[in-house]
Amino acid sequence: MDFRDHIRVISDFPKEGISYKDITTLLKNGEIYRASIDALVEKISPWQPDVIVGPEARGFLFGAPVAYALGVGFVPVRKPGKLPAGTIQETYALEYGFDTLEVHADAIQPGARVVLVDDLLATGGTMLATANLMKKIGADVVGMGFLIELTFLNGREKLIDYPVFSLVEY
Ligand code: PRP
Repeated sequence: MDFRDHIRVISDFPKEGISYKDITTLLKNGEIYRASIDALVEKISPWQPDVIVGPEARGFLFGAPVAYALGVGFVPVRKPGKLPAGTIQETYALEYGFDTLEVHADAIQPGARVVLVDDLLATGGTMLATANLMKKIGADVVGMGFLIELTFLNGREKLIDYPVFSLVEY
C-alpha cells in the first residue's frame, strides 16, 4: 500500500516555500488509517516494547492505536503546562527560539523498553527531545517509527543512536 497516495500536499502552508504534508486525508479513510497502523505495528512488534510513547498532538493519532494493537501502555509527551502530576522537561532549540516537552516523571519504569511513534520526522528535534526525556527517566529507547520522513531535512542524523524507520519518504 502506498500511503503517499492518501497524504495531501499543500503548497506554501503554513508559510511560503513550505510543502505541507496533510495527514487528515489519510486519517479520514478508515481502511487506509487502519492499514497505516497495521504497517507501523508490523515493524514495531519485533522490538517488543513495554510501552509506546508519542509526542503531542499528531503523535497521539499514531502512537495510541499502535499501543492498543500491541496490548501495551501509551505515554503522552506533552507541550508545557498540560500534565497535572510531577513532570520532567526537555528544552530544545528551534530555528528561531526554543520549545519544551514534558512527560510525567512516574510514567515509565526505569529500564522499560520504549518505542517512540510520531506522524512526521522533519528536523528530528521533537524526537530527539522525546528520547532525551526517556534517558532522564532511565527508559531504554529501542526504536522510533514515523509515518512520514522528510529526508532532505536530515532528521535521522540527530537520531543516529536509535533504530529509525518511516513508511513514506519525501
Ligand atoms: C510536528 C510533527 C512532529 C514534529 C516534527 O508537530 O507532528 O511532532 O512537528 O518536526 P521536527 O522533526 O522538526 O521536530 P507540531 O510541533 O507541528 O505539533 P502538532 O503535532 O501538535 O501539530
